[in-house]
Amino acid sequence: MAERFFAPDVPELRERWGSFTWTSANEKTARMYVGRYPEGRQQSAVIPLLDLAQRQVGDETGTQGWLPIPVIEYVAAYLGMPPVRALEVATFYTMFNLVPVGKYHVQVCGTTPCMLRGSDDVLSACKSRGLKKGHTTADGLFTLTEVECLGACANAPMVQINDDNYEDLTEESMGAILDSLARGEAPKPGPQDGRQTSCPAGGPTTLKKMAERNYDYRPQWNAAAGEGA
Ligand code: FES
Repeated sequence: MAERFFAPDVPELRERWGSFTWTSANEKTARMYVGRYPEGRQQSAVIPLLDLAQRQVGDETGTQGWLPIPVIEYVAAYLGMPPVRALEVATFYTMFNLVPVGKYHVQVCGTTPCMLRGSDDVLSACKSRGLKKGHTTADGLFTLTEVECLGACANAPMVQINDDNYEDLTEESMGAILDSLARGEAPKPGPQDGRQTSCPAGGPTTLKKMAERNYDYRPQWNAAAGEGA
């Protein structure tokens, strides 16, 4: 279960982030997001705006970004909504970080399909490299979070690192990804076992003749339908 808690709302936090405003580029982007919604419904842009704010904080801190409370309040004020409504959204989605994170935010899915397919091995690879759930490594490189289903169960076990998914993982392949990131490289996202996207592991299991050529199954289907009539 993903733990969710805010960084304490202390004077230092207010001093650092209390004057947060959009950069001129992000101001344009924010207006574009708000413009997607009908007049009077501008609060519907709260998710993309919180994401934009988090990315701006990330750019300013050289990390994957997070949402200090004053920044959430800024977004709420920008949209003319009570701060608590924006806080509700920020706390609900694990895509929003409520505490500072490192350069790479490693979000390991621990929900049942990933758990049955080896998320413990993925976590072992993290642990053996000094990553600890809910913590950032001393060099500021990695933050490890266990999250609920990230919607890529067909390629379990998987992790999301910043904006990329790494799938079909083993302890070895997960370790290789972390080592590669630590060296400043950009490991290729997606399945790590050679599988193409989320095609059946081991090859097609149905309509096999279609994998080789444009085979016409219709005569067979029509015959079967006639038998059943
Ligand atoms: S259970 Fe892990 S992605 Fe769905």
